[in-house]
Amino acid sequence: MADGEARWVMAMREALTLAQEPDAPLGENPRVGCVILDRDGAIVGRGHHRGAGTPHAEVVALAQAGDAARGGTAVVTLEPCRHVGRTGPCTAALVQAGVAAVVVGQQDPTDEAGGGARTLRGQGVEVTGGVLGPECERVNAAWTFAVRAGRPLVTWKVAASLDGRVAGPDGGPTSITGPAARAEVHVLRSDVGAIVVGTGTVLVDDPELTVRLAAQGAAIPLRVVVGSRPLPPDARVLDDQAPTLVIDSHDPVQVLADLFDRGIRHVLLEGGPTLAAAFLRAQLVDRVEWYLAPLLLGDGPVALADWATVGGAPVGVDVEDVAIVGEDVRVVGRVRYQQAGL
Ligand SMILES: NC(=O)c1ccc[n+]([C@@H]2O[C@H](COP(=O)([O-])OP(=O)(O)OC[C@H]3O[C@@H](n4cnc5c(N)ncnc54)[C@H](OP(=O)(O)O)[C@@H]3O)[C@@H](O)[C@H]2O)c1
Repeated sequence: MADGEARWVMAMREALTLAQEPDAPLGENPRVGCVILDRDGAIVGRGHHRGAGTPHAEVVALAQAGDAARGGTAVVTLEPCRHVGRTGPCTAALVQAGVAAVVVGQQDPTDEAGGGARTLRGQGVEVTGGVLGPECERVNAAWTFAVRAGRPLVTWKVAASLDGRVAGPDGGPTSITGPAARAEVHVLRSDVGAIVVGTGTVLVDDPELTVRLAAQGAAIPLRVVVGSRPLPPDARVLDDQAPTLVIDSHDPVQVLADLFDRGIRHVLLEGGPTLAAAFLRAQLVDRVEWYLAPLLLGDGPVALADWATVGGAPVGVDVEDVAIVGEDVRVVGRVRYQQAGL
């Protein structure tokens, strides 16, 4: 690898770290980091995006670099935007600052912002794409999925016994998994824009659905309760620890459309068997995080209610990871829907 390229890769690694600062957004806007190198390849500016309405990473890094950016290189995890949103186009800021080259990780998948590389080339800036591309895409995997699909990515989290039960024989709240798995769920929650359950889970378990142990400055996910039954005023989900939205609907498409309009790009589905089955039936579960506890409960609700009415088509899961977490087993995978009858 030539010297220049090695410097780009190192700068891109730094830009990736910046993109994942605790105050980087998890919602409407992507996470982006940017590093400015001067003519000699020394780092003279660093910046990351902090969410909708705030300056883009390139603008922050250019401000720090000042005149040292002239003739230098901007290394940025996502293709610079060329549209005038709440902040000006980054392509214009880069050209105005006199950078000679731009190195990009992920190509922008959105219609309105994409095409920044072409705009920059048209203005005489040398553009190189795909540097640490897969790593940069991973940082914005949910956002990228959501802007392409026009709805949030849905991850279904379940805690089940070895015999597939998600609650004890009386259906009441049961701690199925151990402390290590329960702690991990808080990490999962800290990576989404909304946590979604049905009224049934609130009425039986009275969960808080908050993120404990969240990193300083991290965004708080919206708590969402789906269903018609009124909730008791003292339900924990209605406390002031996090915002809560009640959606009086049984239609998962409508629920996700509402959340997408609110800028949510990743949903953690933590509901019970009724809501989970409704989302699966609508083919709206994309990923699973399944905690399997070494217990045989013998009785109690299973993970999916009325699954037999789905149409007989099994749903596959492409397993990406299996791990032992404390005394439990965690299976992570991508859901694969099949045609009925296969
Ligand atoms: N181990 C786990 O991972 C886990 C997680 C969550 C819950 N649970 C357990 O699950 C049990 C509660 O199960 P659940 O199925 O009642 O909980 P749920 O799926 O969270 O809530 C079900 C309720 O949501 C509403 N709803 C929303 N969309 C719906 C749709 N498309 N179709 C039908 N209803 C819809 C309905 O209430 P309305 O009549 O109000 O509209 C329905 O009764 C509890 O025992 C709890 O402990 C276990």
